[in-house]
Amino acid sequence: MNIDLAGRIAVVTGGGRGIGLAVARALAAEGADIALFDLLETVEETAAQIASDFGVRALGHRLDVTDQDATAAAFAHVKEQLGVPRVLLTAAGIEINGDSIDVTADQWRKVIDVNLTGTFFSAQAFGRTLLEAGETGSAVLISSMSGSIVNVPQWAASYNSSKAAVAHLAKSLAVEWAASGIRVNAVAPGYVLTDLTRQIIEREPSLEAEWVSLIPQGRMATPEDVAGLVVFLASDVSSYMTAQQVTIDGGYTAV
Ligand SMILES: NC(=O)c1ccc[n+]([C@@H]2O[C@H](COP(=O)([O-])OP(=O)(O)OC[C@H]3O[C@@H](n4cnc5c(N)ncnc54)[C@H](O)[C@@H]3O)[C@@H](O)[C@H]2O)c1
Repeated sequence: MNIDLAGRIAVVTGGGRGIGLAVARALAAEGADIALFDLLETVEETAAQIASDFGVRALGHRLDVTDQDATAAAFAHVKEQLGVPRVLLTAAGIEINGDSIDVTADQWRKVIDVNLTGTFFSAQAFGRTLLEAGETGSAVLISSMSGSIVNVPQWAASYNSSKAAVAHLAKSLAVEWAASGIRVNAVAPGYVLTDLTRQIIEREPSLEAEWVSLIPQGRMATPEDVAGLVVFLASDVSSYMTAQQVTIDGGYTAV
């Protein structure tokens, strides 16, 4: 069976850089038209680059995924400009590290709001668009291995909790929407070298070697390492697969 996404429309939240951008480029390489949603000012330019690199249609839309109405409006915009999106990747996410006893209410709420609530609003708007159009589709929610293990030595209880919730959100929506032909799976990466992890390493350079020493494959992932799995889950090759979380971590969680 071929992975062929020609003519399929994919929304990628957090698609302005990092894992979201690598996945968007991989989806475009398989022929999908792309809508990038991101807070970054560069998102439109990044989408134009995808269109020119892969010869697909692409648009960039500045969006804060924690805004439910704006997220619904962004999906309506994609439907009008490109057509009904049948693939969703949610990669918009943040991490705030710190000792739990010092975490403020604002810090806690911010992480839960972006990682969990923003993921829900994106999936909700995606599901609604498909149900209204009577179309089938596949959503892939980026969770994290941090949803099932506790990273050391840096602490991030809010992040870990938000990612555990994203994994169960994927299962919950998958069961709710299965009869309508909408699949929902989660992908749980291990350590990936992106701006998110670079910022942590820059504050504490010794962390990189500590992390790598715990990874059987002996290196952090590149964003591209995660992309193939998402393309598989987005495509019809995985059509009987739903309500699952797949971990992609270079072996980290096995030891
Ligand atoms: N890097 C890792 O090691 C790692 C590991 C596991 C899971 N993840 C998850 O993968 C996802 C992507 O992370 P990344 O490493 O590529 O980080 P990144 O910081 O490079 O990319 C995240 C993107 O999300 C966007 N974003 C943040 N808040 C947003 C909001 N409210 N609305 C819209 N866009 C928003 C950012 O602007 C950025 O472009 C995140 O959910 C992260 O938690 C990352």
